[in-house]
Amino acid sequence: MFDTTTLENKIAFIAGGTSGINLGIAIGLARVGAKVAVLGRNAEKAAAAAEAIRTETGAEAIFLSADVRDPEQVETALQETVKQWGKIDILISGAAGNFPAPALGISPKGFKTVVDIDLLGTYNVFHAGFNYVNKNASMIAITAPQAVMPMPYQAHVCAAKAGINMLVKCLAMEWGPAGIKVNGISPGPIDETEGMDRLAPNEAARQDYLNKTASRRFGNKQDIANAAIYLSADIGSYVNGTILTVDGGTELGDASADCLSVPAR
Ligand code: NAP
Ligand code: COA
Repeated sequence: MFDTTTLENKIAFIAGGTSGINLGIAIGLARVGAKVAVLGRNAEKAAAAAEAIRTETGAEAIFLSADVRDPEQVETALQETVKQWGKIDILISGAAGNFPAPALGISPKGFKTVVDIDLLGTYNVFHAGFNYVNKNASMIAITAPQAVMPMPYQAHVCAAKAGINMLVKCLAMEWGPAGIKVNGISPGPIDETEGMDRLAPNEAARQDYLNKTASRRFGNKQDIANAAIYLSADIGSYVNGTILTVDGGTELGDASADCLSVPAR
């Protein structure tokens, strides 16, 4: 029978796939048949991630150590992956940096650092990656609610992620005719991640997130992996140029009002 969600024999390259949400995506893709290459700056951490993927899923996994801010390092990592397995079918750009800080407390170098990792890093991965992907490849950028929701202490991240959303749409238009899909996934607050630890470093801040989120729960890594599977498998083959929001309603805004006196069930 035609299985709409299998990624059997697909090759996935995940920039920033050595921890957190992106590692969760790598594990999710591997569970449904993909071979995965994960990339991060820290080689030891990357090696441990590849080992975890192999142990948890039994799939083939390799690691690459590179900085997405350096186009040459990105190119070399793509070449190594193609040397190992042939062309890439799923190309994910999820490396990011975030530190909460007021705009006046961010130096030009600090602002540039985040834009360089998030936005230029995504450009570097997709721009170089174009030459290493198969027809019908799925490219996915990991963006965030900050792309469309202005937030204090997040000017650098909001600017960078907004740029990613627009880059996704432009590339989808240019590369769709060549048989390549480009989409984004926008996760909401995902539990047990570096990003959430930085944005909500204590219980009060975590509760505040929960109270404002319509679904009244944090997301988990599998929620985001499911979206990546959808965008990469046959079942999502006509989805192009979209930002798939997987955020429990975060982007709708503050849902803390108890207007909702809707009976619990
Ligand atoms: P994380 O665990 O810190 O993951 C970041 C990954 O990127 C790591 O593998 C890190 O490895 C790599 N990385 C960072 N800078 C890099 C660079 N310059 N070059 C290459 N690799 C680099 O973060 P996370 O919280 O799971 O977030 C993952 C993604 O989801 C990010 O795009 C983030 O914006 C997005 N997101 C997260 C949340 C959330 O709730 N956590 C919500 C919305 C969106 P090295 O440090 O070894 O380089
Ligand atoms: N407030 C203000 N500025 C800060 C800051 C903070 N909390 N943290 C870092 N910066 C500034 C630094 O001060 C520096 O600018 P300066 O030299 O003018 O002072 C600039 O950012 C670069 O910092 P540096 O540590 O040299 O960059 P790096 O490339 O080593 O690290 C970061 C990049 C700062 C984004 C680092 O937090 C990181 O590697 N993050 C990856 C993990 C992550 O953020 N995960 C969550 C993803 S959502």
